[in-house]
Amino acid sequence: MGEAGQTKFQMDLRRYLREQEEDRNLTRLICEIADASKYIVNSIRTGDLGVAGTSNLYGEDQLALDVLSDRILRKRLLHSGVVANIVSEETSDIISISTNFDGRYSVAYDPLDGSSLVDVNLAVGTIVSIYEGGELLQPGRNQVAALYILYGPRTTLVYSTGRGVHEFAMNQLMEYTLVRENVRMQPKGSIYSPGGQRNLYTPGTESFVRYMEENGAKLRYSGGFVPDINQILMKGKGVFMYPHLQGSPDGKLRLLYELNPMSYLIEQAGGAASTGRERILDLQPRQIDDRAPVFIGCKEDVAKAEELIRAQG
Ligand code: AHG
Ligand code: MN
Ligand code: MN
Repeated sequence: MGEAGQTKFQMDLRRYLREQEEDRNLTRLICEIADASKYIVNSIRTGDLGVAGTSNLYGEDQLALDVLSDRILRKRLLHSGVVANIVSEETSDIISISTNFDGRYSVAYDPLDGSSLVDVNLAVGTIVSIYEGGELLQPGRNQVAALYILYGPRTTLVYSTGRGVHEFAMNQLMEYTLVRENVRMQPKGSIYSPGGQRNLYTPGTESFVRYMEENGAKLRYSGGFVPDINQILMKGKGVFMYPHLQGSPDGKLRLLYELNPMSYLIEQAGGAASTGRERILDLQPRQIDDRAPVFIGCKEDVAKAEELIRAQG
């Protein structure tokens, strides 16, 4: 980090957003989410590890922690005064907060991605996608901001408002302070993070995995989307995939809550995100629970995946 970087180092999130001259309501919104995450961290550290006794739109059993994190975020967004509509991976409908869209934002979020990893003490995260106005079913390229919070050995928050990707870490006072500005990805990398069962891969994906292995890539897959993406982003190299599988042509991950925000962040850092056939951020969502296959990370690696999938399926 240069001279200017050193003076900014450890600046708190609110002040940093103000100095970047971000829109006041957007600053408010990001800070509300950051505040909510303090309560989510606390629930992860000390809360109930059991099931909630309910299931979500995908038929997955909800954990008490999924439901609680969802409630914590929803409450904050509801009272923020700057939000129009919200939708979460853990709810079955869009919730309207205000019909006056003027100066307001709409938010899609996964309150606790990877929640089934909490009982084995692995890292999990919150993922957030932000649009201007009231529309949530629009291509991800229209996002005005995206962020994630990673609950690992440290809690970090990574955001972009379309002007670079910046990383903050929670300090002992539970404030987020600047760690890294303008995180950038290399054109190609030596890490691969392959989701889904390999015996269900299509020939194109199988060839891509072989290509990465032959080029000396190391396997890094934790089963948590947030830590897996964070590793690729912060090391500036590698590719994560959760491909189309035989029997699951759309893979597993959700467009609104997982893929769009992460694709926005990775593109902002100079990387790319594709279904293997088209850019993730160009997909028009039809429903809130749309899924899509994903290859995300270094530009040249993602282009290689596309080339092999185009040729072999
Ligand atoms: P969620 O916990 O919100 O349902 O999503 C988990 C996701 C993601 O974190 C990870 O990349 C993927 O599911 C892991 O799936 P597999 O267990 O199939 O590898
Ligand atoms: Mn998820
Ligand atoms: Mn989730």
